[in-house]
Amino acid sequence: MGVYIHWPFCLSKCPYCDFNSHVRASIDQDDWQAAYVRAIEEYAAKLPGRIVQSIFFGGGTPSLMPPQTAEAIIYAIQKNWRVSNDVEITLEANPTSVEIEKFKDFRSAGVNRVSLGVQALNDKDLKFLGREHSAVEATRAIDTARTVFDRYSFDLIYARPEQDLKSWERELGDAQQHFDGHLSLYQLTIERNTPFYMSHAQGEFSIPDQDLGADFYNLTQDVMEGFGLPAYEVSNHAKPGAESQHNMTYWRYGDYIGVGPGAHGRLRMNGQKYATREHQSPEIWLKNTLDCGGAAHPFEALDERSRFVEALMMGLRLRGGVSVEDLERSSGAAGGVDRYLHQDKLKEARTQGWIEAKQDRLSLSREGWLRMNALIPYLLKD
Ligand SMILES: C[S@@+](CC[C@H](N)C(=O)[O-])C[C@H]1O[C@@H](n2cnc3c(N)ncnc32)[C@H](O)[C@@H]1O
Ligand code: SF4
Repeated sequence: MGVYIHWPFCLSKCPYCDFNSHVRASIDQDDWQAAYVRAIEEYAAKLPGRIVQSIFFGGGTPSLMPPQTAEAIIYAIQKNWRVSNDVEITLEANPTSVEIEKFKDFRSAGVNRVSLGVQALNDKDLKFLGREHSAVEATRAIDTARTVFDRYSFDLIYARPEQDLKSWERELGDAQQHFDGHLSLYQLTIERNTPFYMSHAQGEFSIPDQDLGADFYNLTQDVMEGFGLPAYEVSNHAKPGAESQHNMTYWRYGDYIGVGPGAHGRLRMNGQKYATREHQSPEIWLKNTLDCGGAAHPFEALDERSRFVEALMMGLRLRGGVSVEDLERSSGAAGGVDRYLHQDKLKEARTQGWIEAKQDRLSLSREGWLRMNALIPYLLKD
């Protein structure tokens, strides 16, 4: 089982971001620490006997959390479940100096992997993205992460306004000086309910259209393959063996709990798979958890088709795709491939070269990944 911990606070809100993250003048750190520990105890009572393979502190900006809070959470997990010897404990961090100073304390707390939100390696684009750090600070943070943690990764956002293919290729070359085994590369998306949504709609900036977006994607794949870090998932690149174990649990449709405001989980209990979701509002989450031990909405039992669709959508994000056996086992939908997928459309997608279906595995080609959001609904029967 994986454990996801959501820390919902940031120093400021980036104009592109629609994650459940909030800016607050003050945070009662003792209460927040007590609430996470309490929520973990409640989950442990429902889920005895599990082995924890990974812990992921995401956000928001969990590197703003006091390291003692991370330590208390890790300790509560160790106290309540067996934790695997090679547990991966990741912390998402922003590369500001305040956070870099705390890296050693997070390491002492048990964190062994850090994922830095670098986003761009030039100050002009960092400013446009509303980031609080410079490119120099970002590379300094990467250097510190390298010395402090066993493993690290960083995120970049591409297909930015006015970015051209050549400058992105150069920036990936700069990134090569700094990455080690893992890099996440996301194409900028304009999300509803963000300041970018409004300013983009008002024509204040434009982003690459679909064709140029595809060129950016293809270039990214070519360059990263050349660097020896091919995509193992749509937006994630790693040397073999350096993949994020926690995220692999999502993509393999394994079990994980989600603790913290708005966190999601997927869990098998008594032979039934459930979707879990915690209250979105930080204040309500905190209050309900301290008062009643939890702030989860009623667990939703997933029917067979939902499980099959989720397992398929997750599995096809992986370069290796998903074997029919794993797909049907993890979703509990025996015979699901015949029952839920149009065989004629599957054949057509193979002819087009979007999907590869060999030796009982389904996987998407690069062209398939580019069309993934339309392709999966096309393949599914109603
Ligand atoms: C929860 S955020 C990262 C945590 C950390 N607060 C940070 O900003 O570095 C996860 C990642 O999603 C990516 N991301 C968020 N919104 C995005 C958007 N609209 N388009 C593309 N990537 C986005 C960013 O690369 C970001 O680092
Ligand atoms: S991108 Fe990261 S720092 Fe910016 S608002 Fe979102 S979660 Fe916070």
